[in-house]
Amino acid sequence: MSGSNELSRRDFIKVTTGIVGGLIGVAIGLPTISYLIDPALQEGGKDVWVSIGKFEDMQVGIPYPFSFTRVQVNGWERTSNSFGGYALRKSDDPKDLLILNSRCTHLACTVNWSEEAQGYLCPCHDAKFSIEGEVLDGPPPRPLDVYTDFRLTEDGLIEIFSKAG
Ligand code: FES
Repeated sequence: MSGSNELSRRDFIKVTTGIVGGLIGVAIGLPTISYLIDPALQEGGKDVWVSIGKFEDMQVGIPYPFSFTRVQVNGWERTSNSFGGYALRKSDDPKDLLILNSRCTHLACTVNWSEEAQGYLCPCHDAKFSIEGEVLDGPPPRPLDVYTDFRLTEDGLIEIFSKAG
């Protein structure tokens, strides 16, 4: 008798443990599942318009620096990528902007505008680009890349189109 009592108590414990374990599993599982579904909803997986600054803050003829970060989600991995560049305003017309990517076209280091040198300088292999992004010196094979899709919002912000990834 006592043996079967012992057994049923053990069974009871097993069942209880099973239920509690299951509940814990559900509690842990829910956020995990939503995390797995999440990637499709992340900004990094989408094409988005990114604000780079106010048009009125950009002075004619002076490169205006900007930067932004996008988070890329790949399964369990989250990678943040930094982007940046310079907007060169040429007139009062917001369409008259040249928006350069500051990633060097040689090996992707970041170039910086130098007022003194009147050019974008790459610290990695001493390249120099003109204010309009043309190669003046060093190993880069082509001019700086240009953000061609941009717009002025009603709030006076310049936004550029950033592709997924
Ligand atoms: S990465 Fe810019 S010159 Fe090499």
